Amino acid sequence: MECIYLVHLIVLCVGFCMKVLCQEDDGAVYVVTMKQAPVVHQYDDMRLETTRFSYGAQGRLSGLNKPRNISRSDRSYSSYLVRLQDSLLRRVLKGESYLKLYSYHYLINGFAVIITPQQAEKLSKRREVANVVLDYSVRTATTHTPEFLGLPRGAWIEEGGPDVAGEGVVIGFIDTGIDPTHPSFSDDFSQNTYPIPSHFAGICEVTRDFPSGSCNRKLIGARHFAASAITRGIFNATQDYASPFDGDGHGTHTASIAAGNHGVPVIVAGHHFGNASGMAPRAHIAVYKALYKSFGGFAADVVAAIDQAAQDGVDIVSLSITPNRRPPGLATFFNPIDMSLLSAVKAGIFVVQAAGNTGPSPKSISSFSPWIFTVGAASHDRMYHNSLVLGNNITISGVGLAPGTDNDSMYTMVYAIDALNGTTDVNDMYLGECQDSSNLNQDLVQGNLLICSYSIRFVLGLSTIKQALQTAKNLSAVGVIFYMDPFVIGFQLNPTPMNLAGLIIPSPDDSKILLQYYNSSLLRDESSKRVVKFGGVARILGGLKANYSNLAPKVVYYSARGPDPEDSFLDVADIMKPNLIAPGNLIWAAWSSLGTDSVEFEGENFAMISGTSMAAPHVAGLAALIKQKFPTFSPSAIGSALSTTASVYDKQGGPIMAQRAYSNPDLNQSPATPFDMGSGFVNATAALDPGLIFDSTFNDFVSFLCGINGSGPVVLNYTGENCGISTINGTDLNMPSITIAKLNQSKMIQRTVTNIADDETYAVSWSNPFGVSVSVMPTQFFITNGQRQNLTVLFNATMNSSFASFGRIGLYGNKGHVSTIPLSVILKIAPNITNS
Ligand SMILES: *[C@@H]1O[C@H](CO)[C@@H](O)[C@H](O)[C@H]1NC(C)=O
Ligand SMILES: *[C@@H]1O[C@H](CO)[C@@H](O)[C@H](O)[C@H]1NC(C)=O
Ligand SMILES: *[C@@H]1O[C@H](CO)[C@@H](O)[C@H](O)[C@H]1NC(C)=O
Ligand SMILES: *[C@@H]1O[C@H](CO)[C@@H](O)[C@H](O)[C@H]1NC(C)=O
Ligand SMILES: *[C@@H]1O[C@H](CO)[C@@H](O)[C@H](O)[C@H]1NC(C)=O
Ligand SMILES: *[C@@H]1O[C@H](CO)[C@@H](O)[C@H](O)[C@H]1NC(C)=O
Ligand SMILES: *[C@@H]1O[C@H](CO)[C@@H](O)[C@H](O)[C@H]1NC(C)=O
Ligand SMILES: *[C@@H]1O[C@H](CO)[C@@H](O)[C@H](O)[C@H]1NC(C)=O
Ligand SMILES: *[C@@H]1O[C@H](CO)[C@@H](O)[C@H](O)[C@H]1NC(C)=O
Ligand SMILES: *[C@@H]1O[C@H](CO)[C@@H](O)[C@H](O)[C@H]1NC(C)=O
Ligand SMILES: *[C@@H]1O[C@H](CO)[C@@H](O)[C@H](O)[C@H]1NC(C)=O
Ligand SMILES: *[C@@H]1O[C@H](CO)[C@@H](O)[C@H](O)[C@H]1NC(C)=O
Repeated sequence: MECIYLVHLIVLCVGFCMKVLCQEDDGAVYVVTMKQAPVVHQYDDMRLETTRFSYGAQGRLSGLNKPRNISRSDRSYSSYLVRLQDSLLRRVLKGESYLKLYSYHYLINGFAVIITPQQAEKLSKRREVANVVLDYSVRTATTHTPEFLGLPRGAWIEEGGPDVAGEGVVIGFIDTGIDPTHPSFSDDFSQNTYPIPSHFAGICEVTRDFPSGSCNRKLIGARHFAASAITRGIFNATQDYASPFDGDGHGTHTASIAAGNHGVPVIVAGHHFGNASGMAPRAHIAVYKALYKSFGGFAADVVAAIDQAAQDGVDIVSLSITPNRRPPGLATFFNPIDMSLLSAVKAGIFVVQAAGNTGPSPKSISSFSPWIFTVGAASHDRMYHNSLVLGNNITISGVGLAPGTDNDSMYTMVYAIDALNGTTDVNDMYLGECQDSSNLNQDLVQGNLLICSYSIRFVLGLSTIKQALQTAKNLSAVGVIFYMDPFVIGFQLNPTPMNLAGLIIPSPDDSKILLQYYNSSLLRDESSKRVVKFGGVARILGGLKANYSNLAPKVVYYSARGPDPEDSFLDVADIMKPNLIAPGNLIWAAWSSLGTDSVEFEGENFAMISGTSMAAPHVAGLAALIKQKFPTFSPSAIGSALSTTASVYDKQGGPIMAQRAYSNPDLNQSPATPFDMGSGFVNATAALDPGLIFDSTFNDFVSFLCGINGSGPVVLNYTGENCGISTINGTDLNMPSITIAKLNQSKMIQRTVTNIADDETYAVSWSNPFGVSVSVMPTQFFITNGQRQNLTVLFNATMNSSFASFGRIGLYGNKGHVSTIPLSVILKIAPNITNS
């Protein structure tokens, strides 16, 4: 079989461990808000921007403001607010000890500080203070996405709370295995009512790395598949573990996102960061390891894993993997992984796959088929940011999970290259990377801020932040500033843990500003060129504390985009991809104790990583909640419930944005289209009460495959089904979306909804894609429980153009159900408007 190809593991990660400052004995974290307006309220000149994206008739977008990026003047207002906050603390708590942890200035003007109740009382009496509250949300900062998705007060309540959410449902993970010793997968529950679902028949392998007793009522199946890799001679038993054990970290992470236990304390670097929880904390986990640290995986092994999962009786399969190239042949759908997933769907299994991390260019999606539920990655609202205030009052923002410099004082900056000891060879181009303290003169660095260059060697892992921090410590520096080497273009930095005051400046332009200021403040000896006096000073404002003011959700730049490529010629399929977006950026979750995927969190129990790999298991977990509530739902019905209830608005009520570039992604963004986000951002609460369902069956998918020219023999080979005369196009599949890859003047499309709720009357409304007129019949209908209703949708090109445009159809029930489906149309042929 020549259809075996390499599957690569998508891990787009920068992980970290985080250190927090210890609380004093009777001190606690308080959040203090001030009366003066925050930065966001300073705006009065909001601009409107037109795009090809159109909500048409309803015009829900018009009048809404495009979110602004933080400009330099905003930054100086920010630092002004920070100074006000600091001076308040200095005046009120004069001579007392306190620790300011975080300054908020964008959405609220305030700060977090460790103080005693008496100090809090003093602060609350001040005229300029609006509010002083004891901080309680900090402890839940760890796996924040259950909160961001509204599970504690929404979906979990539906099922009876986190102690039962997902119970009875089995999720199969095709990944790098699992660390069975992790508390996220233990089952020492006090109550004994946690049976292994009787429909599950899987087993647990027993090996030296995965001893008997590794499985329990939570982790109920575990196997590994490596035959293809072994045949190729590339399997390395030392690194890869010939067992379900996770030597990488990725599989442990994804399994805990979907179904990790609720309330697992997260201890990293000796500190408690809050408690973690999966989306369906009582769902059961079955692990099918088919991906390996050293080489990725092979389709043959992946197919074997999917096969076994289906045979064992899992309810949901989660794949955070995609093929590393577009499958050749008749159509992208005809590849062994998608075809085995079609069989899984036939067996009633809901299949979730990551969209891929190859965005943001169009057609970059690597999950193709209409029976697969494809998930893109969105950001959530938590962020950690820090900044550098230079002596010339310019503030530069940075990344880094690091404390700030000690107090308000400014510290002298010393660039490593200017602090070389006498015997060092100055021509060594890597000396600026601070990887070895013996090259540097401690007398110059001690008590100062060390400047190091973040070069391409850091990206490649040849130099590390950890090593530079060690250098700084060896030399008694007060902190480290990494500037971005201009050769590192478009590299996206995630927060990196630092155990010393520090930050990384991600922008090459900002790095230039730092270096210019530094250089202009130096005094050099004319002849030797050595520095006589370091004049540049700065302080670092720490980035240890999370805040929740990020504009979110937002489609992150790496999330792969539609439209769905139908074949290697990049023709577009009449299928919407991705199907949905879910949190995928900077996700905290469990990590394998022997995970070697990244130096930043080796040996840690939890890690924060990013990718569509992290988005897919969020949806797998939410699907388990749906399956628990509606055990008879088909895979398509589960997908429909998730899709028709998705939200297209962000936290502030504006359209969800999509980042469109690697570099400065927040400056290159515009409203997301269905090719970026599918139906939108998952709404777990609404998905548990969808009202109407768009269902399709295995036979529908076969009819669709048979509709592809010349596909008969391939369909027969893969599915054993003979293509009859009844074939359909992709647009005719009863999906909760309509995608027309080539609209030739006009087209009529039918959809059928089934009411799973009480009798209800629905009104139909829609918005036209730009250049297309849409009409839907009927415009109103009454539907009883269990009844079906056909909707006829007529598309008619009204313009002579050939770009993609987007609209939506909304079905509004009089009992509160709202079901929306996205429309994506690419006009192909100019309509004959004068003569039709
Ligand atoms: C297998 O992995 C180990 C540990 O990383 C390494 O030392 C060894 O060289 C590898 N063996 C082969 C054949 O690559
Ligand atoms: C976290 O979990 C621990 C132990 O499981 C529990 O004692 C504690 O109350 C939990 N904390 C929160 C904030 O949920
Ligand atoms: C920076 O700002 C402070 C306070 O606003 C002011 O006293 C100082 O003169 C400014 N320094 C420069 C170099 O502009
Ligand atoms: C804090 O700043 C003061 C001067 O404002 C300085 O005397 C003191 O040494 C600084 N503390 C530390 C720990 O650097
Ligand atoms: C820091 O100092 C220790 C002890 O002298 C030394 O072993 C280590 O190599 C130094 N680290 C760096 C990065 O220079
Ligand atoms: C200066 O650098 C050289 C070369 O790295 C090293 O061998 C030497 O010990 C250093 N001297 C001092 C005083 O740090
Ligand atoms: C540093 O400043 C000097 C003048 O003060 C200038 O001649 C030199 O080009 C500058 N170097 C850099 C790297 O900016
Ligand atoms: C999610 O759905 C619930 C229930 O329908 C609704 O109250 C809530 O506003 C929705 N959230 C978003 C962000 O759309
Ligand atoms: C179908 O399978 C047979 C036997 O494995 C093979 O010879 C043939 O080429 C396959 N046909 C297609 C269209 O894949
Ligand atoms: C699919 O669409 C094409 C072009 O739009 C049309 O020629 C063909 O008849 C359609 N096939 C089916 C089965 O409807
Ligand atoms: C809906 O459409 C299907 C297929 O097009 C047809 O068989 C069925 O009778 C229609 N149902 C109604 C209520 O019109
Ligand atoms: C399509 O639109 C054109 C121009 O508005 C109109 O003349 C024509 O009747 C429409 N066709 C259909 C099938 O609605």
